[in-house]
Amino acid sequence: MRLGVLASGTGTILQAILEADLGGSAELEVAVVVVDRPCAATDVASAAGVATRLVARTSFGSAFDREAYSKEVATALTDHGVDLVAIAGFGTVLHASFFDAFANRVLNTHPALLPSFKGWHAVDDALNAGVKVTGCTVHIATADVDAGPILAQEAVPVLLGDDAATLHERIKAVERRLYPDTITRFARGELP
Ligand code: GRF
Repeated sequence: MRLGVLASGTGTILQAILEADLGGSAELEVAVVVVDRPCAATDVASAAGVATRLVARTSFGSAFDREAYSKEVATALTDHGVDLVAIAGFGTVLHASFFDAFANRVLNTHPALLPSFKGWHAVDDALNAGVKVTGCTVHIATADVDAGPILAQEAVPVLLGDDAATLHERIKAVERRLYPDTITRFARGELP
């Protein structure tokens, strides 16, 4: 099986996926990393000898043709024979047509216990809400952002003195283990 990873950021979750033995490399290999902007994730992929594709997002707001952009991302993935897609901190919300093209084959990790704290500010929102426990969720991504079927969750305590950076880092430490593990189990047909 060939996995495509979508990333925009520092790529530490991507790094964890690349370092994980995804059920044995013959079973599931990372075929390509697609980014929407120049970012550290590209360097992480290149250092691991994995192909990268920059599908640069050049417009924002109402000028952005989300459907055309999402088609470009889908093409970058199919060019590399991708069967399964893992979103690992990708900064662009993809159009519904993308999720039709890869129906039930797109996974995401979110730094909160869904359905609580959807969206880009999940860690800040959890802190501001004063919850004592938050966590992370691996789910099937659908056109409805952060709302697809849940595959795995793990709780992370909010500690006294936490700010968004310390809490997010503690959540990401869990994601780096839970996400590769869940991707492998999903690819094997063990989930949901
Ligand atoms: C992760 O917390 C993921 O859940 C969120 O973005 C973060 C990506 O982290 N959507 P990194 O850029 O891979 O370190």
